[in-house]
Amino acid sequence: MIGKKNRLARIINPKTKRSLILAMDHGMVLGPTKGIENPKETIELLKEWSDALIINKGILSTSYIPDGQTGIVLRISGGPTIAGGDLSQEGITTSIEEALRVSADAVIVNVYVGFETERSTLLMLSKIADECHKYGLPLVGSTAVGKDKEKSFDPKYIKLSTRVVAEFGADLIKTYYTETKFDEVVACCPVPILIAGGPHLDSDEQVFKIVHESIQKGAAGIAMGRNIWQNNNAVGMIKALHGIIHKGYSVEDAIQEYKK
Ligand code: 5RP
Repeated sequence: MIGKKNRLARIINPKTKRSLILAMDHGMVLGPTKGIENPKETIELLKEWSDALIINKGILSTSYIPDGQTGIVLRISGGPTIAGGDLSQEGITTSIEEALRVSADAVIVNVYVGFETERSTLLMLSKIADECHKYGLPLVGSTAVGKDKEKSFDPKYIKLSTRVVAEFGADLIKTYYTETKFDEVVACCPVPILIAGGPHLDSDEQVFKIVHESIQKGAAGIAMGRNIWQNNNAVGMIKALHGIIHKGYSVEDAIQEYKK
């Protein structure tokens, strides 16, 4: 379908077939967390190296200056915040009609495979997949971190959940890198996989290593937030990651780019 292909081409670079998505949807759970206190400033600082942004509708309407270039992945699931209880109790926060009205190039929905809300979040994603299909709107399925954090990063779990999310109709998947068996995760999933970063890691080199390895093992790129905009040299960090994803940088090349 031409509509879906064209929208996907605004998220995944058609030349490199890879993507650097800057995730900036954290405010819906964490509030004004470090690095995105002023979302407009963060977007303006980093969008030059971002193929697309993951943002909520309120940040899109207040803090994004249309440039006709940066793809928009609209976050459409959510509900709970860190002030409340179970973060996995998500629902749909906006309609596909609204997503199209604000010119989203894709929408993103969280699922919690293996947790109490497994059934409800998977059915939610599946229904959204049908809605998206009607309009040629790509759907990103995101395997979110449940209460049992160890399980959420286990290769066996990631292999299961990414496949399940693809079975229910996602066009792209955002998940976590697993140090072992990531090549199996990619091989068993019929749609491209992007990796998230999780909380800010201790060393920059570790971020470069994870991203570099994931690309070598078949990931299509990253959908990453905190390890970029919470870095003291956020521009250096995103330029280095852009190099790994789109220009074939080694970890050493990325370190040099970061230091420039
Ligand atoms: C926040 C999210 C983020 O989009 C996702 O976790 C990627 O960001 P990070 O690299 O900071 O983990 O779903 O609700």
